[in-house]
Parts: sequence; C-alpha cells; structure tokens
Amino acid sequence: MKPRLIVHGGAWSIPEKFEQDHIKGVHQAVAAVYPDLASGMSALDTVEAAVKILEDDPTFDAGRGAFLNAFGEIELDAMIMDGVTLNFGALAAVQNILHPITLARMIMEKTEHCMLVGAGAQHFAEQIGVKAVDPRELLTARELEFYNQIKNDPEFKTKNPFESFPKGTVGAVARDIHGNIAAATSTGGTPRKLPGRVGDSPIIGAGAYADNRVGGCSATGWGESIMKVLLSKTACDFLTTHSAMRAAELSVAELETRVQGLGGLILVDRNGSYGFAHNTSKMAFAFVDEDGNVAAKIRVAS
Ligand code: GLY
Repeated sequence: MKPRLIVHGGAWSIPEKFEQDHIKGVHQAVAAVYPDLASGMSALDTVEAAVKILEDDPTFDAGRGAFLNAFGEIELDAMIMDGVTLNFGALAAVQNILHPITLARMIMEKTEHCMLVGAGAQHFAEQIGVKAVDPRELLTARELEFYNQIKNDPEFKTKNPFESFPKGTVGAVARDIHGNIAAATSTGGTPRKLPGRVGDSPIIGAGAYADNRVGGCSATGWGESIMKVLLSKTACDFLTTHSAMRAAELSVAELETRVQGLGGLILVDRNGSYGFAHNTSKMAFAFVDEDGNVAAKIRVAS
C-alpha cells in the first residue's frame, strides 16, 4: 500500500512573521521521516519519529518551546496510539522530558497501564533510562518573555487570547505499507494554565485516535473544548460514512457548534486519503502527496 504521512504544527492565528518557521518545521518533520516510512518503517515508528522532530523545534508548543504555566513551569502532555491493537500510551504534566512522545510509547509498550502523570511518569522515565533534561533546556527566551507579559494580567483567559497567542501543539498520523495506522500528539498545553491542568492531547479520542478499520486523527487547539466532543474519535467515527475531508469538516463543525470550540485536525483514512480542517484562522501542516513530494503549508480559513 502507498504509505501516508501528515503532520501538524498547530491551529491558531499564526502571525506572518512566524509563518516560515512553521512551514519549515512541518516540512522538515515529513521530509526527514517519509523515506523510512516508504522503505517499510511502521506507522507507529513513523509518528513517533515525526513528533520527536517537532518536539525538538522551538517553533512549536511541544517539548522545547512549550508554554509556561501559572507558576512559570513547563508541563508537557502527549499520547501515541496504535491502530492495529487500539493500544495507546499517554502522559501528562511531565516537566523534564524533551521527547514526551517517546515516553508515551514506553508507557504503552513497557507497562500494563495506558497513562502516567506527573511525578509517576517522571519516575518511570528514570527507571527505563529515558534521559531527564533540566526544564531550563526546554524553555525559550520567547516563552519567558510571553509569560512575563501575561503572568499578572487579570484579564488573561486561555480562550480569549487563543487566536492571538498560543503556538501549536504538534501531531502526526501515518499509514504504513502494510496498511497499519498510528497517530501521535504532543503539547505544552495552554499559556498560564493552572499547574496540573491537562488538556486534550493525552486524552484518548480527544487529542488523537487510530483504528486500522477506519483511520487515524491528531487534533490541535483549545483543549477544554476538544475534550468535550472527543474530536479525534468523532472524526474517526465520521470516517465510517464520509470521505476523509468531509469527516474532518464535520468534526470541526461539531466542535464549533456544540461547544463553541476552536481547533483543527489532520486525518488519514484506511484507504490513504487525507483530511484536514480547522476553525481557527490558520493551521500549519505538511503531508506527502501522491507523487511522494512533501507539501507544507499554512492553510487560511475561508
Ligand atoms: N490542545 C492542547 C491543549 O489544549 O492542551
């Protein structure tokens, strides 16, 4: 089967001055990983590898470059899902891991659990030898400056400035040459979130979902709304009766009309068709087209 890979770098009102960084970042994640996918790498390995590249890139709100919470600390959430078995691994509120997506996969593969949080997740990381980093290595000057701007602003609310401030959660969905599908999502959450706040990204069916029988999805946007409609599972459910593009549009419409939510998503269906939609003004994403070329873009809402 023709392999497929699509990644996103967040849905929000990406200012023009940051557009090139976003396009470059998502392009790089697909271009670096696709040759291995085409040579037979599994969908699971592919989404992990692509998200690791995006976590390394300070452009995005994941791994390095994540937002700071109300205490001025980084707390990261991530999940990965295998469409073959419906197994998934997730973590929330970890502070000293550069690649939460790899730790999420370890949770899926090396524990009898699906999700670990906070100190427990960090303890597990130590036990299995996932390198801890000083959280200061994840902090960028840009995020520190932004935190200092908003930390004492009594008007600041996560949703109100959503369009103007947040950077992107990252995610990937792949179908490998065997037709297996996987999805992964990683984030630093929202700016000035309460410590301990967990968004949609590590919640199965909200931040990501994958089922070989229908397809896979990764979501991005305002987590408190995405969770309410289980955006990724909703999109996968729509795949049973609609094309990938229509399923993406219908699920974002559900997000908007049912809970006045904001966000976007990327999809691959079991036949290898892509879907993408967002109700934020822009979304950054990249995919491999029919000819094996990488298409990377900032899509502007019509
Ligand atoms: N979508 C990322 C978050 O709200 O945490």
